[in-house]
Amino acid sequence: MTDTPLIRLTGVGKNYGTIVALRDVSLEAAAGEVTCVLGDNGAGKSTLIKIVAGLHRHDSGTYEVRGERVAFGSPREALDRGIATVYQDLAVVPLMPVWRNFFLGSERRKGFGRLDVGFMRATSHAELAAMGIDLRDVEQPIGTLSGGERQCVAIARAVYFGAKALVLDEPTAALGVKQAGVVLRYIVQARERGLAVVFITHNPHHAYPVGDRFLILNRGRSIGYHTKDEITRDELTALMAGGAELEELAHELDAAGSSATARRLTDEAKDLGVTDT
Ligand SMILES: Nc1ncnc2c1ncn2[C@@H]1O[C@H](COP(=O)(O)OP(=O)(O)OP(=O)(O)O)[C@@H](O)[C@H]1O
Ligand SMILES: [Mg+2]
Repeated sequence: MTDTPLIRLTGVGKNYGTIVALRDVSLEAAAGEVTCVLGDNGAGKSTLIKIVAGLHRHDSGTYEVRGERVAFGSPREALDRGIATVYQDLAVVPLMPVWRNFFLGSERRKGFGRLDVGFMRATSHAELAAMGIDLRDVEQPIGTLSGGERQCVAIARAVYFGAKALVLDEPTAALGVKQAGVVLRYIVQARERGLAVVFITHNPHHAYPVGDRFLILNRGRSIGYHTKDEITRDELTALMAGGAELEELAHELDAAGSSATARRLTDEAKDLGVTDT
């Protein structure tokens, strides 16, 4: 990839007091691509996307947007550069209609400050339909939608308001298989519309089918950063879930004397890049 990516983090670090939440992490997100950030609890995923989203500032390394160095002081500044973030606990007003939530904070008005309800209803309906979200009625309270549908409304909204990059923090974590599939489809749609998508998840089975790049974090460090052609789904899964354990197991077996198996496991762990030897 020779083009300057929309988002590029290089050697980024972040401390919370004495806690090192991130150390020397690099990542790129380009238009028309999905970059997945994987890792277990406490790996630093949310810290990383909070930096991208402008909620936190990095302590070391560089953050560039279209090749220009930035250090955002607020999410508004990130949004002004076209970087929209959808958090897992979506800020919606459950009793308000879908269209109201779609336009929340950016209401369309006509003369005398009156809300242009007709425009907002028709537009939210059309935009959701364009993303393939078929709601019977945009008048229904958003609280009646499933978690997956709500994520989809938030994605459609970001796209409509001109986001160039979409950051999604674990949008599929609380969802069942079918609903997660629906959200994954919208991630692909956002990519096809030319957005750069950063997709945070701890599930390699959600990441692999939609991802173009994969960053795997472990205790604040990168333990792998691969394009799709460099890694198989099995390798990604092993890296995520079993990598460290595999290495440990190899040491245990070695101590127990089953050296042939141990050697094979060590080699496997090495192939996956999870050893420091
Ligand atoms: N505001 C904070 N103050 C102090 N420590 C924090 C803060 N936020 C995160 N941490 C610590 O930084 C590390 C990384 O946390 P982070 O929330 O980024 O992980 P995560 O990968 O998003 O985890 P999860 O899967 O549980 O959401 C953890 O050790 C966490 O306890
Ligand atoms: Mg998190």
